[in-house]
Amino acid sequence: MIKIFNLNDVISIKDFQKKDIEFILNEAENLEKIAKSQEFSDELAGKILGMMFFEPSTRTRLSFETSMKKLGGNCVGFAGSSASSVSKGESLADTSKMFEAYSDALIIRHSLEGAAKFISDIVDVPVINAGDGAGQHPTQTLLDLYTIKRQFDKIKGLNVALVGDLKYGRTVHSLAYALGMFDAQMNFVSPDELKMPKETLHDLKKNNVKFHETNNLKNVIDEIDVLYVTRIQKERFPDEEEYSKIKGAYLINHDLVKGKDLIVMHPLPRVDEISTDVDNTKYNKYFEQAFYGVPVRMAILKNIIKNKF
Ligand code: NCD
Repeated sequence: MIKIFNLNDVISIKDFQKKDIEFILNEAENLEKIAKSQEFSDELAGKILGMMFFEPSTRTRLSFETSMKKLGGNCVGFAGSSASSVSKGESLADTSKMFEAYSDALIIRHSLEGAAKFISDIVDVPVINAGDGAGQHPTQTLLDLYTIKRQFDKIKGLNVALVGDLKYGRTVHSLAYALGMFDAQMNFVSPDELKMPKETLHDLKKNNVKFHETNNLKNVIDEIDVLYVTRIQKERFPDEEEYSKIKGAYLINHDLVKGKDLIVMHPLPRVDEISTDVDNTKYNKYFEQAFYGVPVRMAILKNIIKNKF
C-alpha cells in the first residue's frame, strides 16, 4: 500500500500539506458509517492510546476515546492532573516517558503553548496535540473542515467569518491556516483587544492568503457562508477585569441569522455567545460538527498509529 499520510505526529496544522488534509478528510468519509452505527472495526485491536488531559475537555477527549474503541483499540490516561503523579511534582517529561512505556500513541492537552511539541521531541510514539494553551488545535481544525466540506461539498471560495476571541482561541489559530491553504475567503471579526495575533496574520500574508479584519459582524454577515463562533477564553486572560469588559461582545441569536444563507459553527463549549434559539433551526451545525469529531479522529488514529508499527 502506498503511504500517503506521512506525518509521525499531529502537533500543528502548519505541519500538514494540503494533500495530507485531503487524505484525512477522505478517510473520515469512509469511516463515517462505522462512526454512526453500532459497527466496530478491528484495525487498531491490541493498540493502546494514552490520554494526558491537563486541561478540561468533553468533546475532544470523549471523541478520541470513542474513535479508538470504534477501531478496536483501548485507552488509558487521566483527565485533570490531580489524579496523576504530576500533583506529586512529577515533571511533564517523566510523565510522558511513562505514557510512552504503556501506550502506542499519546494525546496531550495542556495549558502551555508548545507542550505537545516538547513531548514529541522526547518520546518515540506518535504524539497528537489536543490543544496547547492559546497555540494550536489541529484535530479540531480537521473536523471543522470536514463539517464545511460535508455541508458545501467544497471549501475553496467559501466566505468564512471567524468570530470572537481570535487572540487566545487556539481553534481559530489552526483553522485560519487551513482555510488559507484551501483558498477560502476569511473575515476575522473580534473586539480590538482580541484580534488575530500578528504572527498569524504575518504568516497568512506571506502565503498570499486574503483576509479582512473588522469588529462589526453586521459588516460581513450578508456575505458569509460560515459563521464560526468562538468562546471568549476566560482562563487565558491575565486579568479578570479585562475579561469582564469584553465578555458578551457578540451574541448570535436567531434574529441575527434569520433569512441569511449561512451555517453557524462553534467548536464548543459555548457560554453565552450563541443563543439556544438557534439550536432548533437549520443554521445550527455545531452539534453535528461535534459528532464529526469521531470519524475524523478515527481517520487520524488509524493512520498515525499504523504508520509507526
Ligand atoms: C475548544 C478548545 O479546547 O480549544 N474546545 C474544543 O476542543 N472543542 C474551544 C474552547 O474551549 O473554547
